[in-house]
Amino acid sequence: MDELNGWRRTHYSIDLTPNCDGAEVIVFGWVASIREQGGITFLILQDREGILQITIRKDEVSPSIIKKVKGLREHSIVAVKGRVRSIEKAPHGAEVIPKEIKILALAQKNPPFKLFSKTQPSLDKRLDLRAVDLRRPVNRAIFKIRHHTLAAIREFFLKEGYWEVNTSKIIATATEGGAALFPILYYDKEGFLAQSPQLYKEQLTMAFEKVFEIGPVFRAEPSRTLRHLAEITSVDMEEAYVNYEDVMMTLSKLTQYVIQALQTRCENELKLLNVKLETPKLPLKRYTYSEILEILNKEGEYVKWGEDLPTPALKILGEKLPEFYFITNWPTSSKPFYIKPCDDNPEICEAFDFMYGSIEIASGGTRVNSKRLLIKKLKEQGLKPQLFEYHLKLFDYGMPPHAGFGLGLERLMMVLTKRENIREVTIFPRDRLRLTP
Ligand code: 4AD
Ligand code: MG
Repeated sequence: MDELNGWRRTHYSIDLTPNCDGAEVIVFGWVASIREQGGITFLILQDREGILQITIRKDEVSPSIIKKVKGLREHSIVAVKGRVRSIEKAPHGAEVIPKEIKILALAQKNPPFKLFSKTQPSLDKRLDLRAVDLRRPVNRAIFKIRHHTLAAIREFFLKEGYWEVNTSKIIATATEGGAALFPILYYDKEGFLAQSPQLYKEQLTMAFEKVFEIGPVFRAEPSRTLRHLAEITSVDMEEAYVNYEDVMMTLSKLTQYVIQALQTRCENELKLLNVKLETPKLPLKRYTYSEILEILNKEGEYVKWGEDLPTPALKILGEKLPEFYFITNWPTSSKPFYIKPCDDNPEICEAFDFMYGSIEIASGGTRVNSKRLLIKKLKEQGLKPQLFEYHLKLFDYGMPPHAGFGLGLERLMMVLTKRENIREVTIFPRDRLRLTP
């Protein structure tokens, strides 16, 4: 095996075009394929950005190079120092004639799937070797889109004057209902992994007014589905002096901003995934919870007023509403204690879900900012106000009216990349059965 020593990359694969003809370059990557044809060896080198042809001809390279690449297995890591030659038939119109090749790591085994094949083994098999699986062009595309989605989300919030914050992921009490918590041993006490930064982001409106947080949250989901994981990336925002109407508009603009960014920054990746992203027109469609029940009823799916929407109901919405939309005015009893009931009808509340077809991407709403009402609502939901003392006491020092949302990044990625299984858009997914890699 060779050492890296002083070699450093001069170009990524796709940067080498006919314009570079004659240039001396150093490229790194893994072997995507290697084949011999009429005495010439074609080594296709792949890096993060794409592929590059390395052409090894007896009359052009030293015999030691030919010996070195003989029997080289796919996925081995190589470095090539050589000269670029423009050639029409090669990818992006250029090949590299090596002067020197280093083998930096030898692949010992062939993985149970091919990089470029259309047919693939089960997702589980691929997840077991996830970092290798990520070398497949489809995955490169998905995660490049994720990278640019996150960048665009940050840009949007910074542009709109939000401060980025991080709150603790080790918490003392549940905020989104007790069932989905992971308990942990916190020294000699019981603690939990955070299900949401909910109460912390609300508290931060007291001092910072407009905040956002992008971070992990944990849900001990009891069942295994195509859209639930035990650990997700949550995009949260919270803002003082606004209500759920303002927040829905902010979320709509954020969605539009992200999609427009992806249209220009990830054109090739979207094409590879066969996805056409249309810029949604604002304002986005809105349905009240009661209107959604009517739509479902017409389709023969009866949901009792007050209940959450069950899976068969969501399936119907997937067919009837294949677009971004909001469901507003939920029954107060179906939403967490911190959501503000409507002033004119406390049976319903100022909450919304942000949807695409059958997929819930985000939930949000206006928050309760009266201490008395918050205590009453905690009790109504069977929670002990004493456990929330650390939060409730802040209300004695002026809690501004505020509102916000929490968005599941993986759910958004499912929609943006048109993937059915949330695991496809998660680098290292966690569910009931998977704790590695
Ligand atoms: O709807 P949820 O539970 O709402 C909250 O956490 C509130 N604190 C938000 C707020 O500001 N009012 O979770 C927010 C989003 C969901 O809409 C969904 O996209 C995602 O997080 N989510 C999950 N995604 C994948 N797997 C899971 N187990 C998820 N649980 C929630
Ligand atoms: Mg929700």
